[in-house]
Amino acid sequence: MTHAEDAPASSDLVVVANRLPFDLDDEGTWRRSPGGLVTALEPTLRARGGAWVGWPGTPDADPAAFSDDGLAIRPVPISADEVAAYYEGFANATLWPLYHDVVATPRFERDWWDAYRRVNERFADAAADAAAQGATVWVQDYQLQLVPHLLRERRPDLRIGFFLHIPFPPVELFAQLPWRDAVIEGLLGADVTGFQTEGSADNFRRAAVRLTAATAGDDPAHLTAPDGRTVTAGAHPISVDAAELDATAREPATAERAEALRHELGDPRTVLLGVDRLDYTKGIDVRLRAFAGTLADGRLDPTETVLIQVATPSRERVEHYAEMRDDIELAVGRINGEHASIGRPVIHYVHQPVPRDELVAFYRAADVMLVTPYRDGMNLVAKEYVSSRADGGGALVLSEFTGAADELAEGAFLVNPHDLDAVGDAIVAAASADPEERRRRMALLREQVLTHDVERWANGFLAALGVGA
Ligand code: ADP
Ligand code: G6P
Repeated sequence: MTHAEDAPASSDLVVVANRLPFDLDDEGTWRRSPGGLVTALEPTLRARGGAWVGWPGTPDADPAAFSDDGLAIRPVPISADEVAAYYEGFANATLWPLYHDVVATPRFERDWWDAYRRVNERFADAAADAAAQGATVWVQDYQLQLVPHLLRERRPDLRIGFFLHIPFPPVELFAQLPWRDAVIEGLLGADVTGFQTEGSADNFRRAAVRLTAATAGDDPAHLTAPDGRTVTAGAHPISVDAAELDATAREPATAERAEALRHELGDPRTVLLGVDRLDYTKGIDVRLRAFAGTLADGRLDPTETVLIQVATPSRERVEHYAEMRDDIELAVGRINGEHASIGRPVIHYVHQPVPRDELVAFYRAADVMLVTPYRDGMNLVAKEYVSSRADGGGALVLSEFTGAADELAEGAFLVNPHDLDAVGDAIVAAASADPEERRRRMALLREQVLTHDVERWANGFLAALGVGA
């Protein structure tokens, strides 16, 4: 990445997200940040020459603002104590589990909430500084739900959008949050609030009406905020740069790498693949157990089948994540112990980030992609896999509790991740479907993803905010 020394001027389009698209590591080197949010937004904002306000990913780091190839980078510092209370605490041990159907028990701590408010104020100040008169500011995700309201207080001239990348839970769960009214009030500061699915948008509208003085508008997508403004709340399913992935997949080097990869694995008949941040919502344990079941009952042959699980390290200082890593690694060891032979593991487990081109080669090499979250806002991995199957092959096993299932139900092998037998059946069905059936399903999947890409998502959201393409 190139650095321009001059501090960036104010911008007409500002993205505010917890993380910048690059993290500053301990040696002072900028590296690409993990996760679906950055993958989706960085190309869009760069193309529009906007500004990105976010944390540089390291406690206490306070680098100066700079321009990177047309993109203005505006770091917001977060202290070590705040990282513990705001990021590891309130964002990732309170909101993350609460919003993902309480698959882990959320913790409610007043100190964490205080830090969340304080850091949200700092982000609102930074966004107010970055935005030109009348600019559009697009706030991202659960870490910054108070920013829309705080920013409107500081800058009533702005158009403000908010997009939630994770699910918005049913009000019956959301109501557990001791600070629920303040969170809704924060979100109602936006002109447009966007969600991954109609279900999430509906949950938000119900929570707003039930818990605050907001009222339902005549149009079902509209709310009237307590201050009388109209707030739109609708579904804007996020996506991937499908054309770019498709093009990478078509490069001869990718096909060669995919073939070499299968060879390195011992030329098995079937390659299964999982790619996730190592997160307890992703159902990595489900797919490992279901896979082990199919080996144990003889439906899949351990000498002919290999599972690759790529798991990016994530939020390692949060308790549930550390426990879950131990559980997964124990399960991988156990399954290999029972079903592998010397030099032929049945599971290849990679606890590292993988470069983008290599990831596309993994997707191309995999006969069956396993996406089995207990709950996921969207799941971009499913869409990346489909985009990468320029050859028309491959099969997708997909949890019905992902946002992606709303769009991909027809072509995928859909499963309930809580039903282990059904997950095993789907893995076997996907692995043994005849080539014609697999191609028919993949064609349906590709039709959807290639016509609903990330550019369409960004343009659609920004159009709802009144910004032209
Ligand atoms: P989440 O946003 O919860 O992490 P998504 O599936 O929506 O889940 O997005 C994950 C993003 O991170 C995808 O773009 C995926 O390619 C990327 N990713 C996940 N694991 C890895 C890995 N090991 N190496 C490189 N990229 C990864
Ligand atoms: C998900 C969240 C993002 C987050 C990403 C990576 O995609 O929706 O907001 O940035 O995971 O998680 P991290 O905690 O490392 O930023």
